[in-house]
Amino acid sequence: MEVLTSKTELRDWLADRRSRPRVLVPTMGALHRGHTSLFDRAREEADALGGEVVATIFVNPVQFGPNEDFDAYPRPLEADLAQCREHGVDAVFVPVVADMYEGDRSITVTETRLSTTLCGASRPGHFDGVCTVVAKLFLLTQPDAAVFGEKDYQQLAVIRRMVRDLDFPVRILAGATVREEDGLALSSRNVYLTPEQRAQAPILQRTLAATAQGIAEGRFATPQAAREGFLEAFGEATLARLDYFEIVDAASLEAVEYFGKAELRLLAAAFFGKTRLIDNVGVGRVALG
Ligand code: PAF
Repeated sequence: MEVLTSKTELRDWLADRRSRPRVLVPTMGALHRGHTSLFDRAREEADALGGEVVATIFVNPVQFGPNEDFDAYPRPLEADLAQCREHGVDAVFVPVVADMYEGDRSITVTETRLSTTLCGASRPGHFDGVCTVVAKLFLLTQPDAAVFGEKDYQQLAVIRRMVRDLDFPVRILAGATVREEDGLALSSRNVYLTPEQRAQAPILQRTLAATAQGIAEGRFATPQAAREGFLEAFGEATLARLDYFEIVDAASLEAVEYFGKAELRLLAAAFFGKTRLIDNVGVGRVALG
């Protein structure tokens, strides 16, 4: 596996393999089974194309707010590289901030619709940072396809929109959320949880799943009733502060006012102490009357 630590090294490595198909997995490191499942998905795709897998590890400062955990974000590089190696990654691009961003950078990629609600409402500028870095990583690594996790469902939708609206020649593939046995979605931020918070954290997934099931079985007449059901059940999490819970159209991310034919997604974010966890589940089209 090649470890490429600068844009120059990446360009040199790419120079002789321009025509080879490539599948990209962008990450911020602190890799866990959620990420390695994306590497495995990328490997499958690359094998089908007769190509290779490129991962990137870059804690992207421009997607963090001023009071967020950029400095504290875990950076276990050696362990991360070992996981990339074990999961069939051919090359890892690990740039430093000064190589990725000029000091007087003045261009930002902004998505103006899907990114304004949900996490975008409580993390202003976050998706601008994500779109800007992902656009740069697409241009730098020139992939045919790229894999993103469904755990960050809004991010996935925003990136699909960016690819559509800016004509990036990249197919976006979604990787299913990987969970602990008790249902908690794997996240690099789970390590911040105290044992008590960790014990309560699976309630996020449990209440989302129960609400989704209630909708599918027709137990809630309206999205408002489903919302009330969610809030009541989530109220048991004494250590949590809910940031948002929304029932949205799975494609447009627009909040639904009644249950029709749309495929739905239920998304929530909650703070356990300073740690903000997000999760989401789907409700299939067929289940709705
Ligand atoms: O999902 C992430 O880890 C990041 O937002 C991404 C897509 C790697 C961009 O920095």
